[in-house]
Amino acid sequence: MADTKVYRASTTAPVNIAVVKYWGKRDAKLNLPTNSSLSVTLSQADLRTLTTASCSAAFQDDVLLLNGEPSDLTGARTQACLRELRTRRAALESKDASLPKLSAMRLLLVSENNFPTAAGLASSAAGFAALVRAIADLYELPSSPTELSLIARQGSGSACRSLFGGYVAWQMGSQADGLDSQAVEVAPAAHWPEMRALILVASAAKKGVSSTSGMQQTVATSGLFQQRITDVVPANMKRMEDAVAARDFAAFAEVTMRDSNSFHATCADTYPPIFYMNDVSRAAVRAVEVINAAAGKTVAAYTFDAGPNAVVYYLEENKDLVLGAFYPLLEKLDGWKDGAKGLKSSVQFDETVASTITSGVSRVIMTGVGEGPQKTDVYLVSENGKPVSTSA
Ligand code: DP6
Repeated sequence: MADTKVYRASTTAPVNIAVVKYWGKRDAKLNLPTNSSLSVTLSQADLRTLTTASCSAAFQDDVLLLNGEPSDLTGARTQACLRELRTRRAALESKDASLPKLSAMRLLLVSENNFPTAAGLASSAAGFAALVRAIADLYELPSSPTELSLIARQGSGSACRSLFGGYVAWQMGSQADGLDSQAVEVAPAAHWPEMRALILVASAAKKGVSSTSGMQQTVATSGLFQQRITDVVPANMKRMEDAVAARDFAAFAEVTMRDSNSFHATCADTYPPIFYMNDVSRAAVRAVEVINAAAGKTVAAYTFDAGPNAVVYYLEENKDLVLGAFYPLLEKLDGWKDGAKGLKSSVQFDETVASTITSGVSRVIMTGVGEGPQKTDVYLVSENGKPVSTSA
């Protein structure tokens, strides 16, 4: 009888927020960056993608369901990931004839985020990391997270960093084949577990200029960008690695804020210019400056990706100062956790900053540094190969 068994593996993968930003490709096909980058992996209790990869000889086509909706699998980047994973599985099968021929079967991939897709919350990073990790587990590949990062990178650059927890570097590499453009752990979450992140969601709408197209325009037109990749980022990478190693928050914060500013400056220097930050983002920058001035030291750091949401990094020991400043402005919103409720600080924002934040932030997410992908026995595909939802 033909083998119609449904093979399954499930994993969760985290979001990461860069503190030294990836912006620019030197090879768009292999998705090789113009510079190295470094990120903090965020806790999956708050932000994660759950993906089940399944395959069966009974499946007719490769199918991806994302948050219950069919999603395109035919794009070159997704195809590159599937091809690489199938090639690795086929190599195992050719060495061991007893292995089921999973590489020849169609895949049903079902994925759910616990946060809004394309809200500028790096959903593609968690999404591709979960997809690659889940299929690698399904295929029982012996690959390390760094080896898998080479595959996830081809799906979305920032995804390569989501294969690890803690503090993660994506080394740009120098080879033309990209085999040295990979993610490595700088430090595990346990090295500096007190790192927290407050995300001020300024817009949950899909972003304007996608990062893929935005960075291509920057590479092609910005003069400032050249200085960023030759001088600014290499220096920031070194400073950031040292800051993480020494758990030096003031240094971590300064590099984080300077690097975000540098990245957005190259966006403004793109022709025509690209603006990801808006009035709410700029009010968040001012708010962080006021908090740091009132504390008399650096207790908070802002950073912005390709969208207006602010991510504010701070240490648990300073939560009263940081959360206490934002909570009174945003107490009506969902997302606050017990430790923040009712906190007040003596920080006084000016009227414009306060009202812009109050009216422009739609949701807060309180989270912190967290672990890498986790295997789970929660399946989004049933034993007989049908999609199931956990959120229903
Ligand atoms: C601003 O990883 O989304 O978030 O490789 O084209 O998919 P592609 O780009 P993507 O870019 C992320 C850019 C960023 C900075 C960062 O995460 O390092």
